[in-house]
Amino acid sequence: MKVLTTIADVRTTLHAERAAGRSVGFVPTMGALHDGHKSLLLASVADNDVTIASVFVNPLQFAPDEDLAAYPRDLDADVALATSAGADYVFAPSVDEMYPEPIETTVSVSGVSEPLDGQSRPTHFAGVATVVTKLFSIIGPCSAYFGEKDFQQLAVIRKMSLDLSLDVSVVGCVTHREPDGLAMSSRNRYLTDEERSESVVLSQALDMAVEAIEAGQTDPAVVRRLMVDHLATSTLGTLDYAEVVDARTLRTPERLRGEIRCLVALQFGKARLIDNKGATAAN
Ligand code: PAF
Repeated sequence: MKVLTTIADVRTTLHAERAAGRSVGFVPTMGALHDGHKSLLLASVADNDVTIASVFVNPLQFAPDEDLAAYPRDLDADVALATSAGADYVFAPSVDEMYPEPIETTVSVSGVSEPLDGQSRPTHFAGVATVVTKLFSIIGPCSAYFGEKDFQQLAVIRKMSLDLSLDVSVVGCVTHREPDGLAMSSRNRYLTDEERSESVVLSQALDMAVEAIEAGQTDPAVVRRLMVDHLATSTLGTLDYAEVVDARTLRTPERLRGEIRCLVALQFGKARLIDNKGATAAN
């Protein structure tokens, strides 16, 4: 395992790997790595000759009132986890290395960025799309692995990569969960014990929605109500959204048909938790 901190070193290193005929897998992260990230790293290691993870808490994707300063940072632990998954390199740049000057060029994706998190965090996806474009440009041709826990982020990155003909194959990986169903997230460590035990309502609400759709319910309002009512059984969580959308457009259709995604966001104290699950509705 080698830790690289400069863009120049990443380019030289990966150029040499590719020149030797080795394929590159890339796992972009903001660090605070957990078993969900490990599953992305393992998928990359299985598919590619060389795997590089990036660890960079990207200021562009945090609004001024969000948790940029508090976001957990522990590079040694991240390197240990990446090593245990069989990764070859960690790219851990400083903010100055990534943004040596105030940035004047940004990437924004309309359409799929707009609903859901786009309503609650209006500047978030432009920050994500900009840093991921930059990371793709630094890493070069690769397969890049993203978790489905951030389903809308995955849709934004797929659309951006297609629209800009980026030389990257975007791979979505299933959400890794705790035994009680809570989706793994770096922000779970903000939860108090009480919030942690109530946080199971997210995956339970999604299970209820999936079950209703697969039993033939085609009215999105009915499915949404099931989720909202179940989420309301949590006394500590505050609802941000619960939506039932077409998995491709991320918009709520009049009637549910084909591939559907149910998504929820709940604020638990300092932790904003999101989760989603897919269902196939009868045509
Ligand atoms: O999902 C994340 O951890 C981040 O949004 C990403 C993709 C690494 C961009 O900063």
